[in-house]
Amino acid sequence: MPTDTNKKLALIGYGKMGRLIEQLSPQFGFDVVLRLDAPENEHGEGITAGSFNGVDVAIEFSMPETAPVNLMRLAELRVPAVTGTTGWLNRLDEVRSVVEKRQSGLVWSPNFSTGVAVFRRLTALAAELLRDETSYGAWAWEIHHDQKKDAPSGTLLHLVEAMKDAGYARAIDVGSNRAGMHPGTHEIGFDSAADTITLRHTARSREGFARGALKSAQWIIGRTGVHTFEEVLFGEGGKS
Ligand SMILES: NC(=O)c1ccc[n+]([C@@H]2O[C@H](COP(=O)([O-])OP(=O)(O)OC[C@H]3O[C@@H](n4cnc5c(N)ncnc54)[C@H](OP(=O)(O)O)[C@@H]3O)[C@@H](O)[C@H]2O)c1
Repeated sequence: MPTDTNKKLALIGYGKMGRLIEQLSPQFGFDVVLRLDAPENEHGEGITAGSFNGVDVAIEFSMPETAPVNLMRLAELRVPAVTGTTGWLNRLDEVRSVVEKRQSGLVWSPNFSTGVAVFRRLTALAAELLRDETSYGAWAWEIHHDQKKDAPSGTLLHLVEAMKDAGYARAIDVGSNRAGMHPGTHEIGFDSAADTITLRHTARSREGFARGALKSAQWIIGRTGVHTFEEVLFGEGGKS
């Protein structure tokens, strides 16, 4: 039930994630006051000063082609935003420059699960410990449902980047599968003649992603700049 104290939330992208976020939003003190899906928001045209009047924060889960325009329009209006859309990070710098110029706020992550944020740190630590152990080779693999549009997943690319940032400079063999209804498994492995190390994260449902996005929406209100989910979880020193 709407209350005076609840913050006003806009949802951009009203698909599987948008609907789940709406369902959980009262638990995080939000009233959903606006929903924009493809028909109402071609080229971001639904994101106007009028429609966002009184909105405290927006959560964006749409499509790789539409997210950058949506995020730049939100930044122009100085509406703090959270985006979980994957497959658009080649345009992050463009989005960042608008967010910074307008002194708006943005949290982005290809994966809003707390478990994956911890998994990424464990991956970086393993990569750092094995970076000079040339007897080990490494792989990175993921599987998702067959509707997922991007492959490899943004999360897997983020994990591989963490390995490289940790100083692992040898080849990393990257693979993906798309089948059925799978909510997402990511695996990082190191193999040598002596043994194998396997690190695996398995998502059980989409709920963890939705909760992470809602937690980030609470956090970004009143902040400026571009931030990652790791900063929300681990503090400003948790940049990725
Ligand atoms: N970061 C994370 O933790 C996480 C977790 C799950 C999913 N994701 C990512 O989040 C994105 C959405 O996932 P999903 O499972 O919710 O997908 P989905 O069910 O396909 O929903 C996407 C929605 O965006 C709508 N859309 C298309 N163009 C739009 C526009 N210009 N403005 C607003 N909405 C628009 C689509 O409408 P139409 O169907 O009418 O085109 C659809 O309803 C994907 O990139 C996915 O990889 C990230």
